[in-house]
Amino acid sequence: MLILGLQGSPRQKGNTAYLLATFLDECRIQGATTKMIPVAKKDIRACLGCGFCETHGYCVIIDDAMSREIYPLLREAEVIVAATPIFFYNFPSGIKALIDRSQTLWSRKYKFGLDDPRRGTRKGFLLAQGATRGKDLFQGTRMTAKYFFDAVGAEFTDGLTYRRIEAKGDMEKHPTVILDCRQAVRELLAPLQARKTILFACRENSCRSQMAAAFAGYLAGDRFEVLSAGSEPAPEINPDTVRVMQEKGLDLAFLRPRSLEEVLESASVDLIVSMGCGEVCPMVPGARRIDWDLPDPAGQPIEFMRQVRDRIEEGVRGLVSDETSA
Ligand SMILES: Cc1cc2nc3c(=O)[nH]c(=O)nc-3n(C[C@H](O)[C@H](O)[C@H](O)COP(=O)(O)O)c2cc1C
Repeated sequence: MLILGLQGSPRQKGNTAYLLATFLDECRIQGATTKMIPVAKKDIRACLGCGFCETHGYCVIIDDAMSREIYPLLREAEVIVAATPIFFYNFPSGIKALIDRSQTLWSRKYKFGLDDPRRGTRKGFLLAQGATRGKDLFQGTRMTAKYFFDAVGAEFTDGLTYRRIEAKGDMEKHPTVILDCRQAVRELLAPLQARKTILFACRENSCRSQMAAAFAGYLAGDRFEVLSAGSEPAPEINPDTVRVMQEKGLDLAFLRPRSLEEVLESASVDLIVSMGCGEVCPMVPGARRIDWDLPDPAGQPIEFMRQVRDRIEEGVRGLVSDETSA
């Protein structure tokens, strides 16, 4: 389970950095995998407001950290933590650029009517602190966070906010911050950790296992943690896979193929469903194994991809119902 932390302050060792590090430490202690993005250090260009994403479903800016790294992470993460200082009653400009660029995901959801397969389980959490103590201090930030999390397919669960934090080191001196983070992480992760983990595996993790994971995540994400990986991962997801899943209303854009080693390193898997990679799929101690003998649609006509997609959907529906009653 990936927890993505967006560190929104330009101060790299300031109060936000400490607050987020404390929160992510707790996530790791409680068994999750974490990734922290120091947003202000990333090359994220401001939204141009050009409307391209609303008609094409992709951002016109294709050569910055948002396109290369952050859209895929926003899709992969099961929890997104937006950590921020208050600057003029809102997020600072660096992380605000990231938020504005999530308009691409907003467009895919609302203009194209596509569902992110993880949208039923992904959570959004806000960590914010500022210098003053007025009752409205977090109002603007909360409102922005609410709509950001909605655009990226995350349910805005809650947050931790701290007033009267200003000089470097103030957050660290706060008497309850560690306990607050521990408690919040426990509540946030408990329902996600109770799920059984299913790994769909194929060769390139660009067609079959991605489709299976998307159907499973969409149909039963609150009951299973769903992962996918390949024995020889392709550089990117197959565009025809994205297209045929889009016909089913599911959005696989920005997902990246991952290797079996990478996924197995951080996940404890209960069930491996192999799509036909057979002997190259490793035996994982303690994990059951099912083999679906499906042909590889890579390089085949799109109609063949559709047929494989439909077989996968049928298989996943059966699997979800069997595993739910098991
Ligand atoms: C440009 C700027 C704008 C700020 N605006 C506010 C504000 O509107 N309200 C507030 O309470 N604090 C404001 N602050 C103070 C910061 O929120 C505070 O110092 C915070 O602890 C900094 O966190 P950091 O160490 O993670 O950067 C502002 C600070 C800066 C530099």
